Amino acid sequence: MGRPRVLSGVQPTGALHLGNWLGAIRNWVDLQDSHDTFVCVVDLHAITVPHAPERLAQDTLSTAALYLACGMDPQRCSIFIQSQVSAHSELGWLLNCVTPLNWLERMIQFKEKAVKHGDNVSVGLLDYPVLMAADILLYDADLVPVGEDQKQHLELARDIAQQRVNARFGSKDAPVLKVPKPMILKEGARVMSLTDGRSKMSKSDPNEGSRITLLDPPELITKKIKRAKTDPERGLEFGNPDRPETDNLLGLYSILSGIGREAAAAECAEMGWGQFKPLLAEATVAALEPIQARHRELMADRSELDRVLTEGQQNAETVANATLQRVRDALGLAKRS
Ligand code: TYM
Repeated sequence: MGRPRVLSGVQPTGALHLGNWLGAIRNWVDLQDSHDTFVCVVDLHAITVPHAPERLAQDTLSTAALYLACGMDPQRCSIFIQSQVSAHSELGWLLNCVTPLNWLERMIQFKEKAVKHGDNVSVGLLDYPVLMAADILLYDADLVPVGEDQKQHLELARDIAQQRVNARFGSKDAPVLKVPKPMILKEGARVMSLTDGRSKMSKSDPNEGSRITLLDPPELITKKIKRAKTDPERGLEFGNPDRPETDNLLGLYSILSGIGREAAAAECAEMGWGQFKPLLAEATVAALEPIQARHRELMADRSELDRVLTEGQQNAETVANATLQRVRDALGLAKRS
């Protein structure tokens, strides 16, 4: 038996933010030592809502460069671009044909995004979780490290694998697909908006002040934190339901400073906002500085990135094509001669 397998991905829609890093990428970095790790830039997901074609390729490469800059090590993991491994689209179609429509209609993210895009809702947006299931199931992933908001999509991937593929086309001893488990860590799994502590930090929030991106320059980070919503009380604390902004900002400080929740709560228990905000800004700038420096290097000379992505694609194709063949056979499609 090999090492347990991990698969995850981020959409290349604009710059990644602290939520993407702390909720997902940071956990991948820890897993790559002990797990066979595949991470992709999910560009096919990014076109399920209207997008800018002239920016997509650049944003895709920049996202892959951020994976490396955040500590993904191509010696220990495979990094690739989703659309360059065609098995994703093909398995997506096969899974479409066994997934009930009403499973998709009840997805919370679909409902939220559909409201936002009004008349312009594509079939792809509804179908998005099936493609995500294909991403995961192709790699026989044991674990999928994601933030809290992806939990429902992972449950769907499990249900498709178990109830719609294995139960119908496999046998108990020879399941067609591996049923993956989500991995949602407590810390950082739900980073909230800087302007509203009750909604999550998101790339699609029209207010850029609501998020800190991994590529924001220090002055901008300081400015966004200075303007972040707070409350009139003095002293910071965790777990007070009436103070969601406080909980979020203290949580960010505890992770970004590296001191942990207990020490952060003790240090900031009596602090006023005027003292705390510069501290948080300093910790954020310091945490992002090495990531930004490495990202600049990787984008200035693309040879390393190209090499990593080519190798990642080859590794991904080997695993993905074998799974795809298994599913084709199970569904009874004619073999290629
Ligand atoms: P995406 O691109 O919206 O987000 C990427 C990852 O970041 C996490 N995340 C957050 N974590 C904590 N706090 C937040 N505010 C926050 N915002 C985002 C997400 O949970 C996610 O882990 N559907 C996925 C992409 C995807 C995928 C996959 C993930 C496609 N195929 C296969 C895992 C496996 C998405 O839109 O993530």
